[in-house]
Amino acid sequence: MDRKQCCVKLSVQPSRGLMDEKFVVLVQSALPSQQLTVHAFHECEDGHSWQAFGHYTADAAGTVNVSEDCSFGGSYSGVEPMGLLWSLEPVPGSKPGLRMRKKNVQTPMVVTISVYQGHHTAGFVDQVLLASVMVERWYMAPGVRRIPVTEDRLTATLFLPPGPGPFPGLLDLWGGGGQLVEYRAALLASHGIGSLALDYLTCKFTLDTGKTVENEYFETAYRYLQKHPQIIGSRISMLGLSLGTSITLKMTVYSEVVKLRCAVCISGSHVQPVDGSLKEILGLFKNNSDKTRFSDKNEAIWRDLLLPIPSDPSLKVDVGRLQCPLLLVVGEDDQNWCANESAMDMREMMERAGNSHLLTILSYPNAGHLIEPPYMPHARASSFKTVVAHQKLIALWGGQTPEHSLAQEDSWRKVLIFLRENLYGDTNHGASSLSHL
Ligand SMILES: *[C@@H]1O[C@H](CO)[C@@H](O)[C@H](O)[C@H]1NC(C)=O
Ligand SMILES: *[C@@H]1O[C@H](CO)[C@@H](O)[C@H](O)[C@H]1NC(C)=O
Ligand SMILES: *[C@@H]1O[C@H](CO)[C@@H](O)[C@H](O)[C@H]1NC(C)=O
Repeated sequence: MDRKQCCVKLSVQPSRGLMDEKFVVLVQSALPSQQLTVHAFHECEDGHSWQAFGHYTADAAGTVNVSEDCSFGGSYSGVEPMGLLWSLEPVPGSKPGLRMRKKNVQTPMVVTISVYQGHHTAGFVDQVLLASVMVERWYMAPGVRRIPVTEDRLTATLFLPPGPGPFPGLLDLWGGGGQLVEYRAALLASHGIGSLALDYLTCKFTLDTGKTVENEYFETAYRYLQKHPQIIGSRISMLGLSLGTSITLKMTVYSEVVKLRCAVCISGSHVQPVDGSLKEILGLFKNNSDKTRFSDKNEAIWRDLLLPIPSDPSLKVDVGRLQCPLLLVVGEDDQNWCANESAMDMREMMERAGNSHLLTILSYPNAGHLIEPPYMPHARASSFKTVVAHQKLIALWGGQTPEHSLAQEDSWRKVLIFLRENLYGDTNHGASSLSHL
């Protein structure tokens, strides 16, 4: 090896940051015009290995700045400051259907960034490693408190922001896979919002009774937040993804208890039996399960289950009655839910009712169903166990990786602005400034 090769310097700034924070990867003291591969490696909690890499050419000074320079190939191409994270994919030979999800938010996601001599696409262990650094990515900012909640049969975790409080609050609901998924609530708390991650499908209530939860379960969770001494009871929001949007819309419009400052619905629909609770929503999916299609790779496509959008008013939440601002986030290539068509129908309903000034729609071409916080690797399809069929299959979520990743970054920034505006601002019904962004 050339003596100079020993002196290649690699830095990542910040080397410890939040999951949604950008980093700058800098290679210095390489040879002028040297071909280099910058590589990211992560081993998940479940033991699966993920990698991403880009092919770069050093400039005349022997420098590569991943934030400014072009990748000519690899798992991403072009100038992509965060491509090393969002294009992470299971290493070759991994079992199919993996999706990366952090379970323990009290530890960071650890990523090893390395630089190799030459342009490579495989066999990295056999290549000349020039330098390597470890990076920590956190969902919980320093000072965020994690409080498991078990009272009133709730299965939930509250995340409180750093500082004395009190803080605005948020109820965070995920979709049909169930489980207590904490990472988004932890990240929201890192941004100043006291957030309660709530399991409503595989929770203690269901384990104890064998039944699905009633609407009161969500009202109990809301009341828990409302009366918490570190939450401002009059400044509470709900955020739902997928099946979580059905609950969010139902509670926002019909609950006598749940009074929200605003609501965020990602990749969902207002179509559901208006009378009833979670059991009836799941029943509608079950009844329509013959509309399931399969891709040529035998991946399940559920986007037709609620289509066509019914005209029967008893089958959709009357968003014309909404009284708080609503933000819809839609991936135009969502293969799992008809979020696209639902958003358009909701807009029509609200225009007719005269409350469409409360509605903001963020719609992203080539984005799929799983619109996550930024830089989470895109899963176009993954193993999924439905609570309806209790059957494990591969679900097609949709999306193209670069556009989907851009949608995650853009929508998260705007969701945070929307929440801050409505939860910290002084008006309840203020128009959103998002249209000016
Ligand atoms: C690398 O690029 C980023 C983003 O443009 C810039 O802020 C930073 O100063 C650059 N670093 C160096 C050493 O050029
Ligand atoms: C599902 O179908 C059954 C049997 O036809 C019917 O009784 C039930 O009301 C349907 N449920 C929903 C939510 O449409
Ligand atoms: C979603 O809406 C966009 C824009 O209206 C459209 O181009 C796209 O085809 C729709 N996607 C689906 C899956 O219907």
